[in-house]
Amino acid sequence: TGMFTYDPGFLSTASCQSAITYIDGDKGELLYRGYPIEQLATSCDYLDVCYLLLKGELPNEQQRNDFHKLVINHTMVNEQMQFFLRGFRRDAHPMAVLTGLVGGMSAFYHDSTDINNPEHREIAAIRLIAKMPTLVAMAYKYKIGQPYMYPLNKLSYAGNFLRMMFGTPCEEYVVNPVLERALDRIFILHADHEQNASTSTVRLCGSSGTNPFAAIAAGVACLWGPSHGGANEACLNMLEEIQANGGVAKIGEFIEKVKDKSSGVKLMGFGHRVYKNYDPRAKLMQETCHEVLTELGLENDPLFALAKKLEQIALEDDYFVQRKLYPNVDFYSGIVQRAIGIPVNLFTGIFALARTVGWIAQLNEMIGDPEYKIGRPRQLFTGSPRRDVPPLNKR
Ligand code: CMC
Repeated sequence: TGMFTYDPGFLSTASCQSAITYIDGDKGELLYRGYPIEQLATSCDYLDVCYLLLKGELPNEQQRNDFHKLVINHTMVNEQMQFFLRGFRRDAHPMAVLTGLVGGMSAFYHDSTDINNPEHREIAAIRLIAKMPTLVAMAYKYKIGQPYMYPLNKLSYAGNFLRMMFGTPCEEYVVNPVLERALDRIFILHADHEQNASTSTVRLCGSSGTNPFAAIAAGVACLWGPSHGGANEACLNMLEEIQANGGVAKIGEFIEKVKDKSSGVKLMGFGHRVYKNYDPRAKLMQETCHEVLTELGLENDPLFALAKKLEQIALEDDYFVQRKLYPNVDFYSGIVQRAIGIPVNLFTGIFALARTVGWIAQLNEMIGDPEYKIGRPRQLFTGSPRRDVPPLNKR
């Protein structure tokens, strides 16, 4: 049994070769296909980034227009999907609903389920990118009892999502460009992050030859957990709780609780397996947070003030300094989303929407890799050696 390397949590095992995303955790650097996240977040939109992740290069003008047209051609979902959605309780967690809806897509789009067929994979990719916003918005509308809003394809990807979320058939919805840009930036910052837990899940799931929708649904399920994509929701709940219990004055007490391991309380939105420096996405998110709050006249939002103070105190505290714990992308993204009007339990759904392209790009890369095999980890067996089944009266 000693033949295998034992590496719980994959701290030092590379599960694949990849040319998509590069992270330098010590420097706090993130590159998609070589381009720094700071440049992509300021010079490109989310669909440009999708194209880049999927194809390896940024689109020229013609390619950009064609890709945009292709995506908007697929924004509607099969009308039957609303009946599927209706089977859920209205008070279900949106991530439970989304896991089901995405997995269910394989039952609706039979011409794009063969993962080994490049054409199938291509249509599945476009369908997933185009339909995720529609599905997330439908899950929200269902929950609050409002009619679904069909996509309006003259709008941008982010603008369309805002309208499907907050528009009603009763009146024209005017997209606020600052919120549109902020949401687009959230999508860009979450688009890919190399071999994180959900991406590794998608690769492992897809390695069995299952259909692409099933593999992406596995990613959605994995992302849900509070150590991963669920951290944005958990972070906002944490900030609200501190606020309700006395706000800034109680930060010291809260930090002490985090440092006392027996409390089991973590500073959500802090720490990362790879970044041992400031997460570059957190910097951009903080900037966006400021822009959105200013636009909405919420500059004095107490949660933003609380978050900044919490960050400042944590960054000066030995516990966090020694462990190299810095804010990650989720520390500020919740405040932005909340200001836009997105309910807290939908935050992780937004993350899933944005990460879908990364999952697909990674899945495609794996299938195209001549060395790819079904993912099948080995184990170090620690159970009982061989023994005989005793008769019932001897147990
Ligand atoms: N608050 C308090 N202590 C922490 C935290 C935190 N947020 N994160 C790590 N630590 C401590 C941890 O207890 C350990 O201490 P010690 O060495 O004394 O045992 C040390 O720092 C190293 O942490 P670890 O748990 O061994 O690190 P990991 O790489 O296994 O975990 C993590 C990484 C992200 C799961 C963890 O930092 C965490 O749970 N953070 C809070 C949840 C969060 O914000 N997650 C979002 C990650 S970014 C978005 C995404 O990719 O999904």
